[in-house]
Amino acid sequence: MLRVGILGCGTIAAKVADALKGSRKVRIEGVASRERAKAKKFAAAHCPDAKIFAGYEKLAKSPDIDLIYIATPNTYHYEHAILCIKEYKNVLIEKPFAMSKAEADSIFFEAKNRGVFVAEAMWTSYLPLHKTALDWIAKGRIGQVKYVTANLGYDIENVPRLNSTVLGGGSYLDLGVYTTNFALSFMGDDIKVSRVFARKDSSGIDRDTTYTMETDDGSILGNFYVTMCANTDKDGVIIGEKGKIRLTNINNYRKIALYSADDDLLDEEEVKYDFIKGYVFEFESCANAIAKGLIQAPEMPWSRTIRIAQINDIIRSMM
Ligand SMILES: NC(=O)c1ccc[n+]([C@@H]2O[C@H](COP(=O)([O-])OP(=O)(O)OC[C@H]3O[C@@H](n4cnc5c(N)ncnc54)[C@H](OP(=O)(O)O)[C@@H]3O)[C@@H](O)[C@H]2O)c1
Repeated sequence: MLRVGILGCGTIAAKVADALKGSRKVRIEGVASRERAKAKKFAAAHCPDAKIFAGYEKLAKSPDIDLIYIATPNTYHYEHAILCIKEYKNVLIEKPFAMSKAEADSIFFEAKNRGVFVAEAMWTSYLPLHKTALDWIAKGRIGQVKYVTANLGYDIENVPRLNSTVLGGGSYLDLGVYTTNFALSFMGDDIKVSRVFARKDSSGIDRDTTYTMETDDGSILGNFYVTMCANTDKDGVIIGEKGKIRLTNINNYRKIALYSADDDLLDEEEVKYDFIKGYVFEFESCANAIAKGLIQAPEMPWSRTIRIAQINDIIRSMM
């Protein structure tokens, strides 16, 4: 059993703690909050057997924890990752992994020097239907990929964290990292950002972001849209010369469907697990990798996280 410590008792940490109940590979061993009372309340509600840590440092130093899940706001991921890695703790860091490629490089430098496992909690990459899509493409079921598109939008404009420049708010860092990971997964690594349009508010927060990408050789185009102002259909579509793949909800795949070039349905799969349980896959991947002595997760290698961070820098500079 991999003993997980949660660092930061917020919204996503609660969903993750609920999702991990029943896992045979991972259990929540401890929860840390800046306030003891908050950690206690969180544990009582989501993981009653977990130890309580008042302060993140105490969790980082605990000999009872194998992996720390960093679930703090975006601008704190770097600081909290370094805190844990310096204590030789393996870490799973919420997306966006860091605020810049420079921060991501520095986290990996410290981890490599100490032989510490690090992965980005880009949970979609670990989901079974993501693997199905990669498999169908590898088997040539849609032929050469030509066009990739995805959108991800939620009506979350009143969430305080998303409206805070200090906490790294905005639509792109919250949601665009998923569409960029989708682009890298299905267009390949050799892609560039062609155009970006962001609708920013007076405080500089990008409430909606649209962007286009293309492969360096110009053979695949990508078009992406994220927003914190409306619930969009969240679909992702990969169009090839022989057909297309539609993924329903690119932030938590529910269904994948394969169509011919004439739109005939050829194959489809739906998730076979409880929707909330999707968070289990990333943690069980960490458990498997750490058991094998790896310092990277195969589904989310460091090179992918670095590439996303690099593209994030470019997109944000073009807004
Ligand atoms: N994978 C997903 O599906 C998913 C979904 C939503 C969010 N996320 C990511 O998860 C991270 C956390 O998001 P969230 O929605 O859970 O945020 P949240 O509800 O605001 O919780 C963040 C937690 O971080 C801690 N924290 C430390 N310093 C803080 C500060 N200065 N201000 C506010 N909180 C601070 C707090 O925990 P304590 O008070 O206990 O110390 C707080 O509860 C973000 O990076 C976000 O992008 C991922």
